[in-house]
Amino acid sequence: MTYFHEEEPSRIADPTPIRHSRNGHQSLAALRRLVALCAVSLPAVLVTACGGSGQSGSDAAPDASAIGSALTAPAIDPVLAAEGRQIFRFDTFGDETQWTDTLRMHEVIAAAVDPTTALSVGLKVDAEALPAAVVQGIQNGSISLTSPDTTIALLKLNAVVGLQGTVETIGGKDTLTRVGVTCALCHSTVDDSFAPGIGKRLDGWPNRDLDPGAIIALSPALDAATKAVYNSWGKGMYDPRFNLDGISGPQVIPPAYGLNGINRITSTGDGEDLAYWNRYVGVTQMGGHGSFSEPRTGVNVTHGTDDLISSKLPALQAYQLSLNAPLPPAGSFDPAAAARGQLVFNGAGTCSTCHSGSEFTDANLRLHPASDVVSEPEPNGAPSYASRSATKQYRTAPLRGVWQHAPYFHNGSAPTLDAVVQTYNAKKSLGLSESEIADLVEYLKSL
Ligand code: HEC
Ligand code: HEC
Repeated sequence: MTYFHEEEPSRIADPTPIRHSRNGHQSLAALRRLVALCAVSLPAVLVTACGGSGQSGSDAAPDASAIGSALTAPAIDPVLAAEGRQIFRFDTFGDETQWTDTLRMHEVIAAAVDPTTALSVGLKVDAEALPAAVVQGIQNGSISLTSPDTTIALLKLNAVVGLQGTVETIGGKDTLTRVGVTCALCHSTVDDSFAPGIGKRLDGWPNRDLDPGAIIALSPALDAATKAVYNSWGKGMYDPRFNLDGISGPQVIPPAYGLNGINRITSTGDGEDLAYWNRYVGVTQMGGHGSFSEPRTGVNVTHGTDDLISSKLPALQAYQLSLNAPLPPAGSFDPAAAARGQLVFNGAGTCSTCHSGSEFTDANLRLHPASDVVSEPEPNGAPSYASRSATKQYRTAPLRGVWQHAPYFHNGSAPTLDAVVQTYNAKKSLGLSESEIADLVEYLKSL
């Protein structure tokens, strides 16, 4: 059950005093806790009902309408969102053309990617898709985690998050003949409840263990120079423009949660809705069948002669909009310090001049020139990421759930929230004291 991120009782029982001091947030927090409580009882039943079917996404339909109506953000149709969850998790839009026919990743996986290797490059396993016998086999060691055959068995069970494999029997042996990727590859992780890298899906949480560049670099179809670029990005990073403009400036994989009501999508606000960017990634990065065209950047890409994306965008968007930012775990911040930090945020720190409103962003009103942000110049001498985008500007990052997804800024240049605040203090000459900085960090951890 991954739609509800706040299902841990510890979080539910934690009414943050900070939240209560803002208009409207008392009811939002209460609603979130209520929704979370309702969610806890459901999954166990459903999980046993669908265990081993290979389609673990068949939990209860997301009840997003309840949340939507409590916010100024638009309500979400729960049926559409449930459809979107399947697409988010399992739909490749036909991108096997890229990952199998061009990059030949099925050969790489079959030859060299045992589960231990897969976990080491950050791939995650959906424990709810594993039948009891497989769980037992992993526990007692009778299923080898160092054999690529086990990876193929996991793909056959549809248990590898974000990868879709077609497994056929050839010469009496299970053989991986097609492989593709889904949105969940980068924008889902698991809760590690079974073992590190194996657990229940957490959709919308960025997979910051994933090394997409290192995975792509395994392809036998790439030349050495291209492989070197992919290998230079590192975990949790991906450059969604490199294959189009030839520039390498990797971006942190962002959350796909907490975006309801925000009408500028991506760190540069390229699109006014999620569907814009979902089409971009689906076609130009995943290699799905369909078209994307953007006069502002001159990007114009078509894959295939069919369109396997357009009709899915409304549901895909509805699902993402239904994903709330996760609340901070109980005891993860000091409430008194956070309350003081809120005053710094709105006062001496001047943070609220841009991080305004219930989602802590002015994105719906304006974007900001690169000269306004503290995260440039880019690491490793890369050109400004904004300069490669459609808007040439940056969006003020929304801050709900910011505790969850270090490192920070579009390029990951701040490893911690403390580093974020120190950077603002220095570059904007805020003159904050060490105790004000510490309080501000506690406040950010509470959002
Ligand atoms: C290979 C990894 C990868 C895959 C696969 C991927 N994304 Fe992303 N996604 C990224 C990166 C990196 C960014 C940051 C882009 C930027 O800010 O310019 C991003 C940005 C986003 C955003 C913007 C978040 C925000 O704060 O505005 C959303 C939403 C999103 N992706 C959803 C999706 C969906 C839906 C799919 C499937 C169609 C998908 N992504 C596939 C890596 C990926
Ligand atoms: C001039 C507008 C502006 C002000 C003032 C401002 N920010 Fe930001 N903030 C932004 C923009 C734009 C980004 C996105 C930059 C990027 O992605 O590199 C951002 C990003 C962040 C992030 C990273 C979020 C993430 O998802 O990685 C944090 C945390 C943050 N700001 C906190 C603060 C704090 C704390 C203050 C006050 C000390 C502050 N900001 C002041 C505009 C502003």
